[in-house]
Amino acid sequence: MDESFSNLDRNKLQTELLHAVKGLKGQVINQNSLSVGMDWKKMPQEIKKVKTDSKNKEEQLTKICREMADCQLCQLAKTRHNLVFGDGNPHAQIVFVGEAPGADEDEQGLPFVGRAGQLLTDIIVKGMKLERKEVYICNILKCRPPGNRNPLPDEISKCEPFLKKQLQIISPKIICALGTFAAQTLLKTDIPISALRGRFHSYEGIKLMPTYHPAYLLRNPSAKKPVWEDVQMIMKETQP
Ligand code: URA
Repeated sequence: MDESFSNLDRNKLQTELLHAVKGLKGQVINQNSLSVGMDWKKMPQEIKKVKTDSKNKEEQLTKICREMADCQLCQLAKTRHNLVFGDGNPHAQIVFVGEAPGADEDEQGLPFVGRAGQLLTDIIVKGMKLERKEVYICNILKCRPPGNRNPLPDEISKCEPFLKKQLQIISPKIICALGTFAAQTLLKTDIPISALRGRFHSYEGIKLMPTYHPAYLLRNPSAKKPVWEDVQMIMKETQP
């Protein structure tokens, strides 16, 4: 190794390489979760028939994901490592919409994979008795605001049309808006989350339940009770 290559340079290079590898991993995960590259022609005829609709939803989501892969519509493009499009079942009955990716999500290209994500996973798996892959999870913003600052109005207005299309395609029975930003953005209101939660609203004809954000629950465990009440109302609504 070149003697003039200092430890500082080496550390910097290692960090950059680590980021690049994690970024690539995120992109591969994103493609896999959308079934990009799946060979549909090889499927037996009968399965193909049943899967036609499924293919459409996946394909439509993949199309938007590709369209926005190199999105430069707002300043967040300059600082993101990965765009976090969304993850889960294109046929989900329930879609969870959060605020924006944090550091872990930005690194992995997947929504809700950090501490707040673990709590959301617990709500889904332990509370709702569902698997994470049965629901769909996305955010108002697809890119991380630096330092986890609040999303800016310009960023929301540039990103929202993609979310709108995403929700149109999935067309779930229920949307669960996690936290103030998701609830206020989708419902076009500035009413506080404490007054919005606990009852269904309507988003483009889809029932929407606002509830507290999992990150808020980490700071305020006493808010778990009202969230559980909201989640139970969602579960009742999605029972056959
Ligand atoms: N918080 C969010 O709102 N979304 C994520 O994906 C992660 C944390």
